[in-house]
Amino acid sequence: MAIVIDGKALAAKVKDEVRHEVLTLPRRPGLAVVLVGEDPASQVYVRGKESDCAQCGIESFGYRLPADTPEEELLALVRRLNEDQRVDGILVQLPLPAPLNEKVVIDTISPDKDVDCFHPFNVGQLHIGQARFAPCTPAGVMEMLRAYDIPVRGKRCVVLGRSNIVGKPMAVLLTQADGTVTTCHSRTEDLAEITRQADILVSAIGRAHFITADMVKEGAVVIDVAMNRNESGKLCGDVEYDEVFPKASYITPVPGGVGPMTRAILMRNILTAARSHLE
Ligand code: GUN
Repeated sequence: MAIVIDGKALAAKVKDEVRHEVLTLPRRPGLAVVLVGEDPASQVYVRGKESDCAQCGIESFGYRLPADTPEEELLALVRRLNEDQRVDGILVQLPLPAPLNEKVVIDTISPDKDVDCFHPFNVGQLHIGQARFAPCTPAGVMEMLRAYDIPVRGKRCVVLGRSNIVGKPMAVLLTQADGTVTTCHSRTEDLAEITRQADILVSAIGRAHFITADMVKEGAVVIDVAMNRNESGKLCGDVEYDEVFPKASYITPVPGGVGPMTRAILMRNILTAARSHLE
């Protein structure tokens, strides 16, 4: 029977720490949140981030742009925010509607305001162990493992998914914590064979019901990063929770697991950015 990792409670603790630290600063940190288009999921995420900012004493500046915003206009906004002294962090919510080019937009964000840790400079720093910002979701997962005293050193870690936002940086952080890491993806052969070897299984595939009990080793730590909707429209992760729960030693729920931690790490990154801008 698994211990449920309470991401909500842990996130509340992290945000409380941020809130206290913010009070010691000479001015409020600021986050610019840019949302292009009307994607309902993105709207929910962005509102969540703005509400976290309010809880932490961080000022948020919202920019809602229509889906057909020309790229040059979006880039001009980002450049303006790069220069804006009130803004410590810039978050452009992804995915961007076509034909906007995410890479060009991310590359335009000043690396010292890149609180998502998406800019290639920060990604490079992350890979050599010198990141100023933690990539929010993978860092949130690492924080959960630490908080529950789950050792990573020497453990077999399997990451499902190779996205730039989650899978790749997750593998980097687990490797830096001395885990032995395998990254799997849609082209992986004999997937269940590999996942069954995992002491720590992190799933970021984005498919409901994907991880079934037969894919999980007895006593494994199961971290579910995904946010899917099942057939009845209910939020769920990749993991078939009810059948995996009895087999795992630790498990994260969806919702209330990794999601809140992602947002809490974002708050911490904004604090880090503000501190460096105030130096
Ligand atoms: N879209 C999904 N997750 C994220 C995230 O962490 N940051 C941004 N900017 N967009 C996202």
